[in-house]
Amino acid sequence: MTHDEATSLRDLQCGHLTRGDEGRRVSVCGWVAKRREHGEHLVFLDVRDWTGVVQAVVPGSVDVRAEYVVRVTGTVSARPAGTVNERLATGQVELTDCEVEVLNAAEAPPFPLDERTEIDEAVRLRFRYLDLRREPMQRSLRTRALINRTLRASLDAQGFCEIETPLLWAPTPEGAREFVVPSRLHPGEFYVLPQSPQIAKQLLMVGGFDRYYQIARCLRDEDLRADRQFEFTQLDVEASFVTQDDVMGFVSRAVAAAAQAVTGEAPEAIATMSWAEALERFGTDKPDLRFAMELGDLTAAFAGTGVAALAAPCVKGLRVPGGAAFARSRLDALTEQARALGAKGLAWFKVGEGGLESPLARHLSPAEAAAIAALDAPAPGDLVLVVADEHDLACRVLGALRVTLGAPPVGEGPYRYAWITEFPMFEGVDEDGNLVAAHHPFTMPVAEDLERLESDPLSVRSQAYDLVLNGWELGSGSVRIHRADIQSRVFRALGIGEEEAAARFGFLLGAFRYGAPPHAGFAFGIDRLSAILVGEENIREVIAFPKTQSGTDLMTGAPKAITARQLRELRLPAPAPRG
Ligand code: AMO
Repeated sequence: MTHDEATSLRDLQCGHLTRGDEGRRVSVCGWVAKRREHGEHLVFLDVRDWTGVVQAVVPGSVDVRAEYVVRVTGTVSARPAGTVNERLATGQVELTDCEVEVLNAAEAPPFPLDERTEIDEAVRLRFRYLDLRREPMQRSLRTRALINRTLRASLDAQGFCEIETPLLWAPTPEGAREFVVPSRLHPGEFYVLPQSPQIAKQLLMVGGFDRYYQIARCLRDEDLRADRQFEFTQLDVEASFVTQDDVMGFVSRAVAAAAQAVTGEAPEAIATMSWAEALERFGTDKPDLRFAMELGDLTAAFAGTGVAALAAPCVKGLRVPGGAAFARSRLDALTEQARALGAKGLAWFKVGEGGLESPLARHLSPAEAAAIAALDAPAPGDLVLVVADEHDLACRVLGALRVTLGAPPVGEGPYRYAWITEFPMFEGVDEDGNLVAAHHPFTMPVAEDLERLESDPLSVRSQAYDLVLNGWELGSGSVRIHRADIQSRVFRALGIGEEEAAARFGFLLGAFRYGAPPHAGFAFGIDRLSAILVGEENIREVIAFPKTQSGTDLMTGAPKAITARQLRELRLPAPAPRG
């Protein structure tokens, strides 16, 4: 304990009573977890606070029920032989001869708070304040606080300065839909809530803060998923006079410190893998390295194939240990999944003692069959899945099937981190024929690729890097463009004309004319890191008041209509009546 837990109302917390306190007359405060009658003149109360439960023996009668808030004063006594409770930290002792002061009465809660039962999440979210009283939520949020504390300490020790940036801001470049806030003083005009402090932190670099960080709230109006909320929190970092390796070093140290604080173990040195290698071996830029099942390449073996379904620029295979036992319905479901991801189909080959078993087997040449049988050292009883298509698509489809078939739940250890580097500068081309930035438009191309920016842009790599943990993207960052000439070329490639660039990012480009230092940065999701480190699969479990999948807050009822007067003040029209 680093602080004094005694207050004017209590001497110590419920979970902290031990044999060492025997004989002391003490007061504890908390909620009634359980009440039992013992004969006519003795009541046993379990009193709970977040540190644990203590048993209080009350002579006579007492008018309390579950979740009443009480202050109990009693004598710390060893429990009689045979009544010691080994499962409780305080199970050796109890408070005897207790006086109970009711600090507040309580209605019966809508769900039990002490049992390890599954409770419908909608009910938990509606009564979140009660859900928070439960042990799993206490543990999650306190672990998250430990992570924040450790990240701050690590960055402070590395010379970073914590600076807050505005929430009422202008458009930011991460590419998601934005939340907007109407201005009362400037009717018809809007603030935009930041998708990240990206532009603000680059301005801080111009401002001479050479190492900035912030535990920053970010807002994005995007479809919610297990790893996505509208509002989330980043550890946001930016530094001047650094390279990509420097930034990866700062972040690796901070993440390692946080992970060690939670798990007790420092993670191994984080491996680095290029984007191209990650796609080739794992079919994704966020490889889950907790299990093997790497993709194999069959392109050469099928170069002159007579099997029409397997004639394609790229043929990739995935070995599934034990998969020969899959029923036809399971293979059909995998084929469906492959199609939904854009593949024309999925070929499967069961590896038996006597050779391959598949509707396609008899069409294969002996060399093709041998290549499949030899892929990634399959053993009898395995299954080999094959996708023939364009290179990236074939890799991605098998990468997704690899996760479906092999990945443990994301929060299940061991923790496998990876840095992914050398992302392509552009993701592809949009409907209007413009290139789409893979990261954001301020990302610096790899120096040696810069000459191909106009002639062969899709081959240009960027100085962008992601940190991945157990198959989730934890964070992204990049070296930024600090020179106006390179920035104009990138804007041009992205189809952002000078006028549009000036309208959207004019203040940043203006700032860059006054001596922008070379700089680079990174941001990772604290919600995601916390969820994985506490062993949860949905970031809602590490957020005190999250939104549901459909973006509502079941407790407050938000989003809600506002009053006619508020609408008038904002000069917004009243919504049309629902019909
Ligand atoms: P990016 O957009 O990749 O980069 O976001 C960085 C990290 O933030 C987390 N994250 C989210 N977490 C929960 N819910 C969401 N809706 C959500 N969106 C993103 C993820 C993600 O990896 N400004 C750049 C960083 C930089 O270049 O410095 C940025 O925001 O963990």
